[in-house]
Amino acid sequence: MTSENFPSVRMRRLRKTPALRDLVRENTVTMSDLILPIFVEEDIDAPLPISSMPGVVRIPEKDLAAEIKAIQADGVKAVMMFGVSHHKDATGSDSWKSDGLLSRMIKRAKDAAPDMVVMADTCFCEYTDHGHCGVVDHGHVDNDATLENLAMQAVCSARAGADVIAPSAMMDGQIAVLRQGLDEAGFTDTPIMAYSSKFASAFYGPFRAAAGCELKGDRKTYQMDPFNGREALRESLLDESEGADFLMVKPGLPYLDVLARVREHTLLPLAVYQVSGEYAMIKFAAAAGALDEKRVVRETLGAFKRAGADLILSYFARDIGREGF
Ligand code: PBG
Repeated sequence: MTSENFPSVRMRRLRKTPALRDLVRENTVTMSDLILPIFVEEDIDAPLPISSMPGVVRIPEKDLAAEIKAIQADGVKAVMMFGVSHHKDATGSDSWKSDGLLSRMIKRAKDAAPDMVVMADTCFCEYTDHGHCGVVDHGHVDNDATLENLAMQAVCSARAGADVIAPSAMMDGQIAVLRQGLDEAGFTDTPIMAYSSKFASAFYGPFRAAAGCELKGDRKTYQMDPFNGREALRESLLDESEGADFLMVKPGLPYLDVLARVREHTLLPLAVYQVSGEYAMIKFAAAAGALDEKRVVRETLGAFKRAGADLILSYFARDIGREGF
């Protein structure tokens, strides 16, 4: 468009009134698009606030049934569950025990709110004593040994009633192995949401305190280099070919370009994760009086939609449910 179009073309004509602006708005966000991540801790008496994530708590396992009902009453339709384990070991074996925390929390959530879509984050960092997302062998995370354990964990989650299995370990081949494991155990209809392009991001900092999974070192041998974009497409297409039912980009706001590119290359439902550090940035900036929290939150969610996300994981999901968009 060149300046010779003016004055016949006036972009401001469609911005004149709220009703007109609504008519031409290209994207919307509803509660059906949002997934609330929650943390559940065993053997604690009272909710434990996470200081780096103001407003977020670890929910005591014993309160989970009541809390999930309250979350549902606020309008949330889907949750991603993270366990805070007191039974960690070298392999994270508590996560594939039928009486382990992961299994118990999924059962409790589904029993309390059968209509809630319960997603199980499928990974080991919350259940291993070293904090890595798999089996460590001579200081290195062993991909193939971890795959077997991931399959056991996924089947355990499905048995407990999880509606969606969401592998976030970034092991090669994990989607194919989980699909096969789930199918062999009879869970042919349990979908897999792949954390397909998950970056080794400093934006996960507050999560590690929230989920109690600090580690020495980093996850750079399995999570992606934040400077890479093409590689995210390869990861996404591989996960699709291995049988993923959803793809995901994580973190969100610093990776909108990745989201838009993956959108152009897949027809699968695409999720984005507005991670703990993104949440913390908004919360602390708002607390300092620098940003209008409500407006900024809505703007970020709209940006995810604009970039191509169908689904958004956000710690703000419950607030949106309470306050409306
Ligand atoms: C663990 C997992 C992480 C997050 C979701 N699943 C942490 C990590 O990979 O280090 C981060 C979520 C957030 O920061 O909000 N598998």
